[in-house]
Amino acid sequence: MSERTPVRPFRSREWFADSSRSDMTAVYLERFMNYGLTPAELRSGRPIIGIAQTGSDLSPCNRGHIELAKRTREGIRDAGGIPMEFPVHPIFENCRRPTAALDRNLAYLGLVETLHGYPLDAVVLTTGCDKTTPSGIMAASTVDIPAIVLSGGPMLDGWHEGELVGSGTVIWRSRRKLAAGEITEEEFIDLAAASAPSIGHCNTMGTASTMNAIAEALGLSLPGCSAIPAPYRERGQMAYETGKRIVEMAYEDLKPSQILTREAFLDAIALTTVIGGSTNAQPHISAMARHAGVEITADDWVEHGYPLPLILNMQPAGQYLGERFHRAGGTPAILWELLQAGKLNADRITVSGRTMRENVEGRETHDREMIRRFDDPLKTDAGFVVLSGNLFDFALMKTSVISEEFRARYLSTPGREGVFEGVAVVFDSAEDYHHRINDPVLGIDENSILVVRGAGPVGWPGSAEVVNMQPPDELIRRGVASLPVIGDGRQSGTSDSPAILHATPEAAIGGGLSLLRTGDRIRIDLTQRRCDLLVDEAELAQRTPVTDHPPSQTPWQELYRAHVGQLADGAVLEFAVKYRGVARTTPRH
Ligand code: FES
Ligand code: MG
Repeated sequence: MSERTPVRPFRSREWFADSSRSDMTAVYLERFMNYGLTPAELRSGRPIIGIAQTGSDLSPCNRGHIELAKRTREGIRDAGGIPMEFPVHPIFENCRRPTAALDRNLAYLGLVETLHGYPLDAVVLTTGCDKTTPSGIMAASTVDIPAIVLSGGPMLDGWHEGELVGSGTVIWRSRRKLAAGEITEEEFIDLAAASAPSIGHCNTMGTASTMNAIAEALGLSLPGCSAIPAPYRERGQMAYETGKRIVEMAYEDLKPSQILTREAFLDAIALTTVIGGSTNAQPHISAMARHAGVEITADDWVEHGYPLPLILNMQPAGQYLGERFHRAGGTPAILWELLQAGKLNADRITVSGRTMRENVEGRETHDREMIRRFDDPLKTDAGFVVLSGNLFDFALMKTSVISEEFRARYLSTPGREGVFEGVAVVFDSAEDYHHRINDPVLGIDENSILVVRGAGPVGWPGSAEVVNMQPPDELIRRGVASLPVIGDGRQSGTSDSPAILHATPEAAIGGGLSLLRTGDRIRIDLTQRRCDLLVDEAELAQRTPVTDHPPSQTPWQELYRAHVGQLADGAVLEFAVKYRGVARTTPRH
């Protein structure tokens, strides 16, 4: 195998075989020997393959990768490469305070430096928990060496007293039951624990499952990779095949810049709708596209996302969980439905070395309860509604989780379908919401619109998943499970709230929400895709914007705030976007 000639000389040769600086070559080589590698291996001309390890004790959703990496290494070795595993900054969605969103860009920066500064010819990106997928893909684009995504897979399905309980979604639903006095705190904890029965990431179609499916739809994973539950035997087999394939990709010099085209991102948007994917897909797709040098606009979500149907019956938009999704055919079966509906750019190259069409042709599901046909969907027009108006330039709402109750109460006024007017109750932070939501003085009722500001990238910092605010307990007891809510932050991908999210620009930088006052009237018009504050210009001109936010607590928070963009634009480090294909430049000795 070592006699094969790569399309382009491996960059690791510049470390290990640079005849002009043999003194440095010796320095580069010597310490790798202390764990048993030989100079002959490193100088044999074989590709050095990085395994970007995102699993750790602090990242339990990805911890399966620690074990899985053995199979990945075996695949790499069997195909003639030399594996080198290294750690990625931990990202744990549920535990990282003030929010794991800070880590996406930090892990991105770290990974760029590792991939650029070390003798790596290609990389396996291990993914799972929400932000581990976009951060890895963003870095792979900036560096532009051959890269392949290996998902860690979801946990097994959770069960509680004969009913499926899914990650996150059970938390949001049980919180409402707790507020209504239907369950005790102990039952709440039992339900949460039951939703996490094994290793793996969230088993709902939350942000983790969404982003891993997106990686596959982009063409960055081997077909079928994303949905395999973490403990299944196929997961180890997929790790082995992925290890083998990345070595071939190194020889072929098949890079992210060839795979991550505009067509690929439009397909990712389409996929997000039909699987009922997480609202977090929007900033992550924007971020990945921008680092890939591809323009994705709000109109792309309207045109390529909104009018598609929901066809996957998985929580939070549907009923089931990850094991059934995998058994129903996983992401290839979804992509096959898109292809048959003429909604897939199928002739683009993927990491398999084949086109998307070749990857998914004929991968028809055997489970029509789980994966519906386009002409028999769970919901039509199921994508995100992108809104604008005088409160913000951009925000979105996930229509596939609008309940019948919510639709009947707010969106079904005869002659004014899709239009709702209400009175704002404004919270200046998530803490403010928690302190005051049950205060009867606020007079919150069915005509209220709850608004939270200070939750965006600069305000929080990082942008928090707090916009899916639940109504006061009293209202829940009366059967009002959700009120219209608006905010400049995000919500969990596992949430079933039809919240208006990602308001850009955020209040902390003087966006429209900063001028809002409790008692103002707001009109939401989903048919015109508008959201407007019904207060005249003269009155608004008198008001002082509320841009307050807490001081940075760490150096990174300060640096992040100084350079982060808004959620509409992916909340990337704006200065970083201009760096693309940095592997073309070799760092100095
Ligand atoms: Fe890590 Fe959901 S918390 S995948
Ligand atoms: Mg989350």
